[in-house]
Amino acid sequence: MSLPDKVAVVGAGTMGNGIAQVFASHGVSTVLCDVSSASVERGLAAIAASLDRFVKKEKITEADKAQILGRLSPSTDIAEAVQGVGLMVEAVFEDVGVKRDIFAKADEAAPAQAILASNTSSISITTLGAATKRASQVIGMHFMNPVPLMKLVEVIRGQDTSDETTATVMSASEALGKIPVEAQDYPGFISNRVLMPMINEAAFCLMEGVSTREGIDEIMKLGMNHPMGPLTLADFIGLDVCVNILDVLKDGLGDDKYRACPLLRRMVAAGHLGRKTGRGFYDYSSSR
Ligand code: CAA
Repeated sequence: MSLPDKVAVVGAGTMGNGIAQVFASHGVSTVLCDVSSASVERGLAAIAASLDRFVKKEKITEADKAQILGRLSPSTDIAEAVQGVGLMVEAVFEDVGVKRDIFAKADEAAPAQAILASNTSSISITTLGAATKRASQVIGMHFMNPVPLMKLVEVIRGQDTSDETTATVMSASEALGKIPVEAQDYPGFISNRVLMPMINEAAFCLMEGVSTREGIDEIMKLGMNHPMGPLTLADFIGLDVCVNILDVLKDGLGDDKYRACPLLRRMVAAGHLGRKTGRGFYDYSSSR
């Protein structure tokens, strides 16, 4: 088995709906679950909009789109969503209490052999495993935004994750057309441990007047071949998410070198969180 017949994706936000889209696009019957019908509907509408872009580019046909949408079903109940699944991927907001609760509920209701994965970017997989009676079947499956386009899945092994679970998730990720890379369960794993200090340093450069926001972004785009400059990327990820991950790195690794730049904190305090609020390092109000 490289892909299970049925999966549940819990959390219908940007990451969750992207993950559900990718499973459904690869023939998997996919339940998209969130707390309210309205959230699930928003997630399904985002999937339809993303598929429309692929139709427009002639990467898929209208008939493919209809088939993919037909593989998706909505749910607002975790116990119901995980019935008969081979895999659950949780992709709710980064709150350890909420995630542990989801894992405990899924553990009660999912088939005994099902794997429970989290798309978390910063919460310990070991902690989530400890909320269940199947820690050997709990793992991190960290997709990148935008999920339908980005190739990487960072596969994170918790303290008790088994070799078998890891192998299954690595092969499932490949079957989704992604490239999985294994990481151990330490704060920020690999992606954010390396990415966030770069974004933080870019914010320090801006705060200290080393260059303008455009200057900093252009240097990293042209000089390092990054598709987005670090300040544009920070706006894309969300400045609140960046500060939160930096705090996880600082606390978890006990090193002040991960302290969040005061400018980042000040922008978060002002509610300028990036694209999602229409303003971050750049202004997005006209594109909303
Ligand atoms: N579904 C379908 N198509 C999409 C899409 C989606 N969700 N998002 C973008 N596209 C399409 C656009 O429609 C566009 O199509 P056209 O070329 O036909 O116009 C195409 O992708 C390219 O998009 P853009 O022209 O807007 O811009 P781009 O060429 O810069 O590509 C990008 C966009 C792929 C996002 C690129 O900028 C990129 O790779 N950026 C870096 C992304 C990144 O670093 N992601 C990781 C963030 S960190 C994270 O996710 C994890 C964490 O823990 C914080």
